[in-house]
Amino acid sequence: MTRDEIVTRYSDVYLVEHPFVQHKLTSLRDKNTSTREFRMLVEELGTLIGYEATRDLETIDIAVETPLETAMSPVLKGKKLCIVTIMRAGNGLAEGVLKLSPSARVGHVGMYRDPETKKPVEYYLKMPHSVEERTIIVVDPMLATGNSAIAAIDKMKGMGAKDIRFICLFAAPEGIEAFKEAHSDVPIYVGSIDRELDEKAYIRPGVGDAGDRIYGTR
Ligand code: URA
Repeated sequence: MTRDEIVTRYSDVYLVEHPFVQHKLTSLRDKNTSTREFRMLVEELGTLIGYEATRDLETIDIAVETPLETAMSPVLKGKKLCIVTIMRAGNGLAEGVLKLSPSARVGHVGMYRDPETKKPVEYYLKMPHSVEERTIIVVDPMLATGNSAIAAIDKMKGMGAKDIRFICLFAAPEGIEAFKEAHSDVPIYVGSIDRELDEKAYIRPGVGDAGDRIYGTR
């Protein structure tokens, strides 16, 4: 499927086309972007896309004393947020989302991709309590095959989570299809739907290995 076919088919795949987002994604693609710059951009994009992904959070009006009078004005209703990072590349993005809500809890799911099978292998899981009462925002910069995101969300649902959203920077059409097949109820907020996955399960044109580029490894 093409990018346009994806957004037509899935009404809850939100492509964030804001010019600031698109500009920063282009800088990420550039192979000459330094580790420092790459890490900063991922964090900024976490804030910008996180902003879109939290648009529908419920608010409640409270009374507030301004210097002039009492006003009824909205505050967040208080449903607790939990940002879940799929390590390790998700950590950079999670920092950006946290800027929106510094008191949010953070869950960690450690997954690596078996190079042979391309399937995710879980090596770490740490979540806050009361997952079922929280809005869960799962983050991973790259939605490639979709396997890690699907497995992480399987875990969250297994723990009782009901309100889950997923944020990524780049997605392959194949990854979105697989994700939606597994979790049709989970909206995706994405910066770019790229052309395809290559034979090594890299997103093309993509950015290469996001974890390596964030942390300057390899
Ligand atoms: N993970 C990455 O870091 N990059 C890709 O292109 C695919 C998966």
